[in-house]
Amino acid sequence: MQEMVVTKMETETILPLRDAEKLIKESAPFMEIMTYNRCAILEIETKLRVLNEEFSVRYNRNPIENIKSRLKKPLSIIEKMQRKGLDITIENLQNCITDIAGIRVICSFVDDIYFIADMLSKQDDIRIVQVKDYIKNPKPNGYRSLHLIVEIPIFLSTEKKLMHAEVQFRTIAMDFWASLEHKMKYKKDIKDPEKIAAELLECAETISRMDCKMQQIHSMIEAE
Ligand code: GTP
Ligand code: MG
Repeated sequence: MQEMVVTKMETETILPLRDAEKLIKESAPFMEIMTYNRCAILEIETKLRVLNEEFSVRYNRNPIENIKSRLKKPLSIIEKMQRKGLDITIENLQNCITDIAGIRVICSFVDDIYFIADMLSKQDDIRIVQVKDYIKNPKPNGYRSLHLIVEIPIFLSTEKKLMHAEVQFRTIAMDFWASLEHKMKYKKDIKDPEKIAAELLECAETISRMDCKMQQIHSMIEAE
């Protein structure tokens, strides 16, 4: 007897009932992990908003311009696990992929980045797992940002779960560069990639000098 057709995927692949059931059953723990990661984003966003509020009362300005968060897409997760040579298991997903929850914090000035990152790091329910300071040590292509991998608890109905998240701190200028560079780096068949890379690096350096200048102007005004 032919199996009933139940699922039409994006790719127009039609799954037989048995495969569809297996897929749903196996994806339940995956969906659970994604939900917990969404909760971790909520927790971190709240902490950042609280710091921004307090700063605005104390110093009459907001050091955080914007917060953008995202959950890593399932395909990117699988691609990363394969790249790292990890078996695609729920355990590896939970223990080895630390950037399913991603929070990008756009700050006004470079000093604000370090201030907010420091305040967040000092909170007693947060553990800093890794720091990558691409501001003090920019990537060879000119990329600048401060990356923290943190561990944060989420409180569920019957248990506390420790979740990882990647928090990226950048100025508006660094974000401007990274967003455009990201869009352009996936363009295929570029005629002169060395020239493009050199131009992008020059832009990153110009932007960095501007950030530096903006910080100096701000500090001068604050000192008045
Ligand atoms: P992954 O396995 O890709 O996460 O490598 P990693 O953990 O060594 O990466 P890293 O911490 O250096 O960077 C992680 C994230 O930072 C990326 O997913 C991007 O969002 C951002 N990033 C890093 N390098 C660049 C870059 O050169 N250009 C842009 N636009 N973004 C970058
Ligand atoms: Mg990473």
